[in-house]
Amino acid sequence: GKVCLAYSGGLDTSCILKWLLEQGYEVVCFLANVGQEEDWDQVRAKALKLGATKMIIKDLRREFVEQLCLRAIQCNAQYEGTYLLGTSLARPVIARAQMQATLDEGCQYVSHGCTGKGNDQVRFELAFLAIDPKIKIIAPWRLPEFFERFEGRDALLDYAAQKGIPVASTKAKPYSMDDNIAHCSYESGQLEDPSKPPPVDMWTRTNDPITAPSTPQEVTIRFEKGLPVKVSSNGKEWTDSLELFTALNELGKLHGIGRIDIVENRFIGIKSRGCYDSPAMTILRAAHLDLEGLVMDGKVRSLRDQFVTHAWSEILYNGLYFSPEREFVENSLVFSQKRVNGEVRLRLYRGNVWITGRSSETEKLYSEEESSMDSLVDFSPVDTTGFINITAIRLKKYGVQKQEEGNS
Ligand code: ARG
Ligand code: SIN
Repeated sequence: GKVCLAYSGGLDTSCILKWLLEQGYEVVCFLANVGQEEDWDQVRAKALKLGATKMIIKDLRREFVEQLCLRAIQCNAQYEGTYLLGTSLARPVIARAQMQATLDEGCQYVSHGCTGKGNDQVRFELAFLAIDPKIKIIAPWRLPEFFERFEGRDALLDYAAQKGIPVASTKAKPYSMDDNIAHCSYESGQLEDPSKPPPVDMWTRTNDPITAPSTPQEVTIRFEKGLPVKVSSNGKEWTDSLELFTALNELGKLHGIGRIDIVENRFIGIKSRGCYDSPAMTILRAAHLDLEGLVMDGKVRSLRDQFVTHAWSEILYNGLYFSPEREFVENSLVFSQKRVNGEVRLRLYRGNVWITGRSSETEKLYSEEESSMDSLVDFSPVDTTGFINITAIRLKKYGVQKQEEGNS
């Protein structure tokens, strides 16, 4: 049989590649470029040297930013009140491209190096199955003949030595990372004790906010239908979605924006400590959230927060992108963004994003005159007396009930 393996060039997937060959499979390797730091030529050479028939590398940065990251911004997406979903957002585009490679290459199997304890195995496999219900999946870290043989890093290193797999001379980091244009994640290993701070030299996408520049930087972001269409700062301007996203990553990195350190609940029920730095996502989310305050109807906003923001975030976290519920929720999300047009001015300073102003040419809801304390439009103070009296009917009845209960 022929397998399409998600291959990163690291120790785990290199051993998986050799092991699959040893089991008699032909292997095509696949690697997505979602904006991570990588030596692409080196990964390609390594896969071919180890015996892969082909190494496919696909640049998915634009579709990742446009279809997933910016959708998350429109949604103000956030998992458990903090995590901006960087890894969860990349999985659907990677899985979709890997399945396309699987089809193009005539593979009957797909394989990946995710552990049996995480979210990623669930995300990839649900996506694979939704895209091709007949696909056969090989998850080595859940196969006893694999995980019993390769228990611990030393077993992998021994196998690598025996099979001529080159192991990077740089010492492996004492934690696991997943890097893409939205964020870098850091988990496990040295980070497993949640009471200990992460190592100071761990972060890759943000500088230390404490030593960041002491002069704040002004940035203006323009949104159309809830999507950023222009970023300007210091006389420079970016209008292409991928370029403006990259520019915000650079500005955010400089000013140390977007670090978080949390304990989260994985879909499979395990708690896990994770650290994440997501500069562009943090800046865009703050700006978008602020603009909605100016231009969005209050009731729509409340319903969207309750039913769309939470649902979409959880759907993505749990790997259910290719589902009817994601399509359903996203339709109403896009509708809610129809009038989210305007500009937000903000300041980046030592780990903080703060908003200094917002404006919109198309908004019709905010009126300086109406919200002012010293003018009256369309209603008189007498009307408000009625509003309070009517709203109080039910509360008064409840108050009476509570008083009687207290007396008995
Ligand atoms: N806990 C995060 C998530 O579930 C990050 C996962 C990182 N994945 C990885 N293969 N290192 O989205
Ligand atoms: C893994 O277990 O493969 C990475 C972490 C995760 O998927 O949650």
